[in-house]
Amino acid sequence: MKPSVILYKALPDDLTQRLETYFNLVQVKDLSPQTVSQNADAFAHAEGMLGSSQTVNRELLEKMPALRAASTVSVGYNNYDVPALTERGIVLMHTPTVLTETVADTLMTLVLTTARRAVDVAQRVKRGEWRSGITPDWFGVDVHHKTMGIVGMGRIGMALAQRANLGFGMPILYHARSRHQEAEARFNARHCSLDTLLAESDFVCLVLPLTDETHHLISAPQLAKMKASAILINGGRGPVVDEKALIAALQAGQIHGAGLDVFEQEPLPVDSPLLEMSNVVALPHIGSATFETRYNMAACAVDNLIAALTGKVEQNCVNPQVLKS
Ligand code: GLV
Ligand code: GLV
Repeated sequence: MKPSVILYKALPDDLTQRLETYFNLVQVKDLSPQTVSQNADAFAHAEGMLGSSQTVNRELLEKMPALRAASTVSVGYNNYDVPALTERGIVLMHTPTVLTETVADTLMTLVLTTARRAVDVAQRVKRGEWRSGITPDWFGVDVHHKTMGIVGMGRIGMALAQRANLGFGMPILYHARSRHQEAEARFNARHCSLDTLLAESDFVCLVLPLTDETHHLISAPQLAKMKASAILINGGRGPVVDEKALIAALQAGQIHGAGLDVFEQEPLPVDSPLLEMSNVVALPHIGSATFETRYNMAACAVDNLIAALTGKVEQNCVNPQVLKS
């Protein structure tokens, strides 16, 4: 008999069919307590699950005693209780490689649109305001040859450094737990403390996963260290930035602007003060959201689940210690 799998994300038809050749697929709309109780039998027998941003905690895992593998269509996995999965011997699979270049494009989009006020002035054009002429309050600031600080020099940080340094001639500072020889050799990137990076960068780009250590890494004291002319870019996870402190810093003119793809609460509440600010570009967590990359991520997650449930995991495993026991 084929293993049972809960699918809680819509996938392209060909990928759903691929899953069906291996598994007895049960498709549900979400992982809410209501959905779980309505499909209690399917959750009780499921050996695998595939989806993305929904919460997978101990309470849910208790309803899934047969679970052996979870596969997420994302690089980030802060919504999974990894210790709980590992204790139960459940492998967690993610998609760390296929989205790198696309997310770096998104970060560069935030850098450019925020610096050049592209969203704000495009809205003015649509409102017919070009007719009265362009005054200096339509002007932006340069990007080329400015200093870019990258916090978190992983794959995405590297792809961002490549664009910024080789494409825009930007000197690169980076802060990461360990030195990155390749970043230093290819992009002349300089390793420094977070404080130095904050003080010297014109663009502070956060490319970090959400962990206990990165939660509110950027709060009032860190924002106070940034230049008044600097722009903060967050393309990792919202709670890496203390959003209240960021709003206060922007309101006080302590920093020049912010380009954000992620927020403490998503979707961003419509009454957020960030939405009132013309020096803020807010994107709806679209870091990896292109047709090509979302397809490739879904295909990767499908392959990951097949590998995990057939005992052939070679890569993309978050808790490989489970495989050894
Ligand atoms: C998107 O944010 C991801 O983690 O893939
Ligand atoms: C971003 O979430 C990363 O892990 O590089």
